[in-house]
Amino acid sequence: MHYSVMLKEVIEALNLKDTGIYVDATLGYAGHTSEILKRVKRGFIFAFDQDINAINYSKEKLKKISSNFTIIKSNFLYLKEELLKRDIKLVDGILFDLGVSSPQLDTKERGFSYHLDSRLDMRMDLDNKLSAYEVVNTYTEKELTKILYEYGEEKYAKSIAHNIIKERSIKPIETTLELANLVKRSVPYKETLDKHPAKKTFQAIRIEVNHELDILEKSLKDALSILNIKGRIVVITFHSLEDRIVKNTFKEVSSIPPIFKNLPIIPDEYLPKYKLVYEKVITPSELELQENNRSRSSKLRVIERIK
Ligand SMILES: C[S@@+](CC[C@H](N)C(=O)[O-])C[C@H]1O[C@@H](n2cnc3c(N)ncnc32)[C@H](O)[C@@H]1O
Repeated sequence: MHYSVMLKEVIEALNLKDTGIYVDATLGYAGHTSEILKRVKRGFIFAFDQDINAINYSKEKLKKISSNFTIIKSNFLYLKEELLKRDIKLVDGILFDLGVSSPQLDTKERGFSYHLDSRLDMRMDLDNKLSAYEVVNTYTEKELTKILYEYGEEKYAKSIAHNIIKERSIKPIETTLELANLVKRSVPYKETLDKHPAKKTFQAIRIEVNHELDILEKSLKDALSILNIKGRIVVITFHSLEDRIVKNTFKEVSSIPPIFKNLPIIPDEYLPKYKLVYEKVITPSELELQENNRSRSSKLRVIERIK
């Protein structure tokens, strides 16, 4: 079953207006968008995804609710440009529910899961050339170590990268289970006891394949620049690297620049244009955690344009 993370919290945080224009940057299987569409009867929703399977499914689901939506098959990196093409310069709310969807993870052929045996793939956009196979079989040991260390925060990055190079000199590493077993052999036995040791490696390679971190800051800045006054951006992240980018980007635009901090009067043009809606990060309720264990690492942050 597909479960939309923090659905109630997202709807509340968006502070929807019946006539508003909203953007879902990560449509997925349309759990959040469906609820937005039901509440925005005289407004409009632009929904982005780079995964054609998610788009095909969601189009049918949304049509049953209303026709006030357009789905755009594009990376949300081009959100601003794609909206401009449609004459949309400002919007009332934008949602980013980052990462992969459960159907992506659970569809064996997509090659995201270290539990299901499949060709190494991990592309969210099936039109992209770079897949996990190329990363694992062509990147240098140094590049692999860096990716595993930075994107997976994997402390055994060196040993895993070393074993990848060794193994692929005999024959290419073709499948998810070949890689998952290689990781198991590369870490101390105690690391394999309570969770799967390949989790971090798979996360790191997925981030590299889909350039997930490179595009986030620019996409958030573009999103901030097209918000109407009182418009909000809601972001759900699933690991600390993403959350750090969101937190820092939001902090930067909602704070008084350091050089003005000690002045008795701050000129209006230097007062922040945005405010954090919640000082603290929001996490799923106990009930949600019981119903959907996959939401356990999710964090939600919200910012509003105030002038
Ligand atoms: C966590 S799922 C979203 C689930 C959705 N909120 C729901 O309720 O069904 C993330 C979706 O965003 C898409 N995605 C991730 N990064 C993207 C990007 N940079 N551009 C466009 N789509 C992206 C993925 O393909 C996936 O379908």
